[in-house]
Amino acid sequence: MTLDPNNWKQFRATAHKMLDASINKLKNAKEGRVWTPLSEHQKSIIHSDVPVEGTPTSEMQSIMEGFLPYGVGNTHPRFFGWVNGAGAPSGLLADIATCGMNINAGGRNHIAPVVECEVVRWSAEIMGMPKGTSGLVVTGTSMATIVALKVARDTAKRALGKQPGDQVSLVGYTGAQTHSCVERAFDLLGLGVRNLRKIPCNDDFEIDLDALKTAIKKDRADGLTPFVIIGTAGAVNMGAIDDLNGLADIAESEDLWFHVDGAFGATAVLSKAVKHRLDGLSRVDSLAFDFHKWFQVNYDAGCVLIKDESAHRASFAARPAYLRSSERGLAGGAFWAVDYGPELSRGFRALKVWAHIKEHGIKALGKVVDRNIEQAQYLKSQIEAAPELELLAPVPLNICCFRYVPKHLETNELNSEIAIQLQLQGIAVPSTTTIKEKLAIRTNLTNHRTRKKDLDILVEYVVKIGAELDQPDA
Ligand SMILES: Cc1ncc(COP(=O)(O)O)c(C=O)c1O
Repeated sequence: MTLDPNNWKQFRATAHKMLDASINKLKNAKEGRVWTPLSEHQKSIIHSDVPVEGTPTSEMQSIMEGFLPYGVGNTHPRFFGWVNGAGAPSGLLADIATCGMNINAGGRNHIAPVVECEVVRWSAEIMGMPKGTSGLVVTGTSMATIVALKVARDTAKRALGKQPGDQVSLVGYTGAQTHSCVERAFDLLGLGVRNLRKIPCNDDFEIDLDALKTAIKKDRADGLTPFVIIGTAGAVNMGAIDDLNGLADIAESEDLWFHVDGAFGATAVLSKAVKHRLDGLSRVDSLAFDFHKWFQVNYDAGCVLIKDESAHRASFAARPAYLRSSERGLAGGAFWAVDYGPELSRGFRALKVWAHIKEHGIKALGKVVDRNIEQAQYLKSQIEAAPELELLAPVPLNICCFRYVPKHLETNELNSEIAIQLQLQGIAVPSTTTIKEKLAIRTNLTNHRTRKKDLDILVEYVVKIGAELDQPDA
C-alpha cells in the first residue's frame, strides 16, 4: 500500500487546478465581501463519519476549492481586525516547495537549519541586535514569548545558584497594555500570574517609568526577586510604543533581563516614520516578533531572538542518546533547533520567511509599513472631521480606536453592533476593544492592500449604520 497517486499525470493536472484556484483568490483579493460566514452547505461537507474509504484527489481538489471564500478575510484590503497580516501571493511558492520536501526542521544536517540560521541572522541585523544573537523561527509571538521568558527565568535562577526546577519567587514587570500572551507565558512557565506586575501607563498608554521603579523597589523591600522587565513595541489595543531606552536603563541599573514584545510594532524598524522610536531594541536581552503580521509573510511565522546564545542554549539543550549529533553524516550540522526551543518535530517555516524577505527586500516591506502608518493618520483626520465620530486614543502607529456617538442608544452596545454589522454585511472587518471603559471600533492597519478609499468606505458605513441603528424607538 502506498499513498502516492496511481496516475501522476492526473495528479499534476489536479494540483495545477488547485494552484490556479488559489492564485485566482489572491488576484481577486480586493474584490467582494471581506468576510463570509461558513455556509450550512460547506459545514455539511466537512462533517461526516470517520472516512473509512478514501475520496479521489480530484474530488478533494474541488471540495477544497469550495473552502477558499471562507477564511478570516485578512487577504482583503478592508480587513482591519485584531492584528493580521495580509500575506503575499509569492508565499505559495515557498509553501509548495516546503510541502515537496516535507522536512522535519527540529535538527540534523540539511537545508532547513541553514536557512533558519540565515533568517535569524537577518532578523538580528534588522532589529539592531548584535552579531551572535541566537533565535528561532516559531509559530508566533505567543510561542516566542514563552521561549524568551524561559531563558530569562533560567538565567535568573542560575544567578541565584538555583536549578530550573527549584522554587524562587521571581517577579516580572510589564505595562498595563501588555498582550495576554505574557500572562500566559508566566502561567505556563510556573512563574505564577500573580508575579507579573502590570504597571500603570501614562496618557500615551506607555509604561510609567517612575511607577515601574517604585514597584521594583517595593518588591525588593518585601524580599521578592525581580528578574525581568517586559516592554511592548506596538501595544495591541492602540499601538503604543513603550520608552524602550528608558526601560533598558532601568533593566541595566536593576540588573534585570529586558524583553520586548514587538509582535507587529518591531517591524516598524523598517519604516522611516517611527524607526527612531525603536532604537532601544538594540539593547534588549530578548525580542519576540512576528513575520506573519506587518512583514506580510503567510501564516504562521514568528521569531524569538536572544542576545546571549549560551543562555539560550543552556535553557533547552539536553539531548538524549537517540538524538546525539555526529561529526559527519545526517546527524551532523552545527545548529539543531531542538537545542533552542521546546519542539523536536517542526515544519520548515523558515523557508517562506527567507524567500519572502529575499524576494521583496526590506525596502519594499518598509514602504508598506510607512504607508499603513500614514493611512492611520489619514483615518484619524477623517474621524476628527466627522461630527458623529469620536477618537478614543492617540494614534502613535497603525491603529485607530474610535466610536460612533449616538443620540438615543447606549454607546457601547451600539458600537459593538456597528462592528458586527460591518462584518456581517461583508463591508469591512474592524474588531473592538475597550479604551478607558469605552467600547472602541478598532482599526488596525497591517495590510499592504489597503488604500485610502477603503478607509473612506469604513468611515462612510460606520456613520451610515450608526445612524440607521440609532433610532429613538429602537
Ligand atoms: C502586541 C502583541 N503581542 C503578542 C501577540 C500574539 O502574537 P501571535 O498571535 O503571533 O502569537 C499579538 C497578536 O496580535 C500582539 O498584537
